[in-house]
This record gives sequence, C-alpha cells and structure tokens, in this order.
Amino acid sequence: MEFAQHLSDHRVSEQERTKILQNPGFGNFFTDHTAVIDWSADAGWHNARVEPYGPISLDPAASVLHYGQEVFEGLKAYRHEDGSVRTFRPGKNGERINASARRLALPELPVEHFVEAVRQLVAVDQDWVPSGDGEALYLRPFMIATEAFLGVRPAREVSFRVIASPAGNYFGGELHAVPIWLSQNFARAGHGGTGEAKCGGNYAASLAAQMEAEAHGCPQVLFLDPTDDFSVEELGGMNVFFVLEGGTLVTPRLNGNILHGITRDSVLQLAREMDLTVEERKFTLDEWREAVANGTLKEAFACGTAAVITPIAELRSAEGTMVLPETTSDSVWGSIRAKLLGVQRGTVEDTHGWLTR
Ligand code: COI
Repeated sequence: MEFAQHLSDHRVSEQERTKILQNPGFGNFFTDHTAVIDWSADAGWHNARVEPYGPISLDPAASVLHYGQEVFEGLKAYRHEDGSVRTFRPGKNGERINASARRLALPELPVEHFVEAVRQLVAVDQDWVPSGDGEALYLRPFMIATEAFLGVRPAREVSFRVIASPAGNYFGGELHAVPIWLSQNFARAGHGGTGEAKCGGNYAASLAAQMEAEAHGCPQVLFLDPTDDFSVEELGGMNVFFVLEGGTLVTPRLNGNILHGITRDSVLQLAREMDLTVEERKFTLDEWREAVANGTLKEAFACGTAAVITPIAELRSAEGTMVLPETTSDSVWGSIRAKLLGVQRGTVEDTHGWLTR
C-alpha cells in the first residue's frame, strides 16, 4: 500500500522538542505527524497517508462517540547506540488489533499495512525517538467507527490512525516498586465480554476503580474474577506476574478476560530460556495471601508496553495492606527486565528476530 506524504514544517520547534525529550513522562506530548488509512464497506482500505498531527474532524453522530466502537494498540520504537531506530514485534500488534477488531465488529487491517503505517510514521518523526535509559517513542495505533449513523450496527466507515508520543517511565520519575489497589467493588471483564480485546471501553470501565486506587495512594488497580474463586486477572493497564520460591514464574492464564500482552508473551519466552519454571494458570487471591504469609512468594511485578516491567511493593485493600518482600534489580524481575530492555535497545542479541528496523 502506497502512503501519500503530506508533511508539515515542524509543528513543534526543534528547541521545544529537545526540551520535551529531556523529560517526556508518559503520554503528554505528540509528534509532528500521524499515519492514516480510511476504510469503507464499499471501498475497503484506501487513502493511506501521513499527514500533520492535529485534531480530527468527526461528525457528531459518528458511532465511535455513541457506542464506543474502537480498538487500539501500544508498541514502542527504540533508539539504538548507532542512532538507528527499531520497533519491537510490530507484527504481533498487527495481529492483536485484528483479534480486537473482530470482537468489536470492525474491519481487519492486513498486518503488512499496519506495520507499514507504523514504519512510515516512525521514519518521518524519527527525531522524536528519545535515547535515555528506559525511554522510547510510544506508538498508539487505533481504529474508530466514523460513520454518522445512530442505529446500533457495525459502522460502514472506519478510520485507522497511528500517533506517537515520546515516553519515559509510565509511573513517573525513576523506576520504583508501586503499591496497587485491590478492586473489590468492580470487575474489569466478564466471561464472553470484551476483556481480551484491546478496546477503549475496557479502560473506561476501569476508571472508577482507578479513582478508588488513587484515593488510596495506588497508581494501578488489580482486578479479580469474582466468578472464579477470586482469581487474579490483570491490572487496569498491564498484566501481572508472581515469582514463587524455587524459581517458578506464575501468571494468570489467558481465559478470555485477559489481554494477550506482547510484553507478557516476551517475558514468558525469556523466562523459559532462563530456566525458570513457567506456569500460566489460575492464581487466586487466597493463594497469593498464603504465599506471602508462608514466605514462598518472592516477587510480584506488572508488565506491559507502557509499564515495561515494574515491581509491585504491596497490595492495599479495604481490609488492610499486604506488604510484599523487598526486591533488588538482581531479582527475577530485574534480570528479565534487563534482558528485555537489552534486546529492545540493541545491547543484547535479538535471537528471536523481535526487532524491525
Ligand atoms: C500499553 O502498555 O501499551 C497500554 O496500552 C497500557 C495503557 C497505557 C493503556
């Protein structure tokens, strides 16, 4: 697919960009361009282009605004020591957006068009890729129903876009262990629902619980499955892992409610290669509490594209706080994080072919 290029003079001055890149935070600033591909039921995917970043003009009746027919992705582009830029497993995001699109009755975008849209945007805005430790250019592809129609049915007009935002630590400042809040009033997903799709509605539905979390000093909330022995599902925006005595890594199995995290999958692959015992299984809150009480729980960490790998310090709830063991960077989470970031940053050999130039 050919992308037309409608490039702008830089929206943001070089001086301003340099300042932004010194401390980008997460999700605050956006690059000069966006990649776009339109779709209609009659014409299919068409009008691929790179255009200046800016507000989108939408009809007030566009169905995304009423029924939330939307899916999105998150991936990163990394600056290597030689100045080149690589994205991490973009084809996996292309496959996942299509799985989400099927659930939300949106059209599938051929993976090669997805990857090319990402490539085009990164190429045009490559000056925005930061080079600091733990920093990258966060890419946010998304697909929205743009048709102006209020009947409830799949839209016949859709737009796919990619925007980009320089990113540092999702939780702000230096990497640190975070407290998380246990949601007991809200569930994130229900069986047969949209839990494993990456759609905006899942994240909107997590916000009331997130507000509770923040009121208790926690930047993330943990959701359980109340219909399955209160087994652990995921955090508001990331998957969760546990390290048990003897080098066993446990993460909730993909039960239809849990996001198929690409960082999750990469962590599992790296852990197997590091000779850890890996278990994708049901892990209940009771088991977690018992493992902390008897000392067999060694670590817990969150992972995701935005979060990378972030250790969990404690689990707070209405019943009190469960403090987890203190860990250091030579813990399991620290070794996996170092390896993953090393591959992404080009300092560890990419034996899996995860990087795309
Ligand atoms: C990601 O890790 O890419 C996410 O989408 C999580 C969050 C920022 C919504």
